[in-house]
Amino acid sequence: MKEFDEYLAMVNQAIANLRLPERPAGLYDPIRYTLDCGGKRLRPVLALAACHAMGKEPMTAVHQAIAIEMFHNFTLLHDDVMDNADVRRGRPTVHKRWNMETAILSGDAMLTTSTMLLAIKAGEHLASALDLFNGTAMNVYEGQQYDMDFENRLDVTVEEYMEMIRLKTSVLLGCACGMGALMADADFDSQLQFFNYGVNLGLAFQLQDDYLDTYGNPETFGKAIGGDILNDKKTWLLIMALKEDEKGIVKSLIGKNDNPEEKIEKIRGVYDSLGLPDRIHELIRAYIDSAIACLDQINMQPEARSFFIDLALKSATRNK
Ligand code: IPE
Ligand code: IPE
Ligand code: MG
Ligand code: MG
Ligand code: MG
Repeated sequence: MKEFDEYLAMVNQAIANLRLPERPAGLYDPIRYTLDCGGKRLRPVLALAACHAMGKEPMTAVHQAIAIEMFHNFTLLHDDVMDNADVRRGRPTVHKRWNMETAILSGDAMLTTSTMLLAIKAGEHLASALDLFNGTAMNVYEGQQYDMDFENRLDVTVEEYMEMIRLKTSVLLGCACGMGALMADADFDSQLQFFNYGVNLGLAFQLQDDYLDTYGNPETFGKAIGGDILNDKKTWLLIMALKEDEKGIVKSLIGKNDNPEEKIEKIRGVYDSLGLPDRIHELIRAYIDSAIACLDQINMQPEARSFFIDLALKSATRNK
């Protein structure tokens, strides 16, 4: 196995080698802008590492890995429109830097580019890779729809929330891991366990994203803090606060955005008084443990197992 940063360098090189057309600039510049400003590249690194762990050169899965990263970046362009978010990765979002029409159309082009990349050198795995990828994409859209639907409801349960984040976020991490294993010709059971590892990691990952949306440092996190609260997003934190806040402070603030700073401060105060920051980290840790347990079902070298354990533990405490 290699270090995270070595897989990352392979991913970044492959993205740098993409020859996107120059014109029309209005279509392609926002794509370059999005891909150039990085991100953690967690999904493509997972794909290369899973391929390597299953005994093939990591580069065997490179096109499928960057296809998934391209798809992820596409979802962010549209997500930032839907969430009315102004900042991502420390820079203005595409719909702010350009406009909403641009975010829609450049996003569309990224989606199609991702399926084109997926097919490159997929060989005998093409049909399975497409199945996995398209099934995952549909799940992401379903999850995003639930995420929006839930903004207008007060009775969302923790179970509904977990299913929503499984769809919008976790299956894509599962897909990345499963895709790497598929490209390495791994048996179906190993592919499935890698997929399950990614899904559990993804649940922990989205819980931590929701935590950071309220408690993160905007400089390191790269996004504005408090966006979920202002959008009345039914995160685990808000669902628990609605349930346990006996004074009804949270409920009285939902749907009101006349004083955004005060709303964020008051709701964060309720989270603090209920001990939710510690409690969400217990939950995150439980999903990390479930992810790690999936690794026991896969036949791989100890150093490969260590790589995926380390990565899971680091994701649970990430601050960006
Ligand atoms: C952001 O994903 C969207 C979520 C699923 C929380 P990342 O946190 O992986 O974003 P980048 O690619 O590193 O910027
Ligand atoms: C992201 O959820 C899920 C997808 C982009 C599919 P969020 O809306 O929480 O992601 P961020 O916080 O904007 O990155
Ligand atoms: Mg968002
Ligand atoms: Mg969103
Ligand atoms: Mg978020």
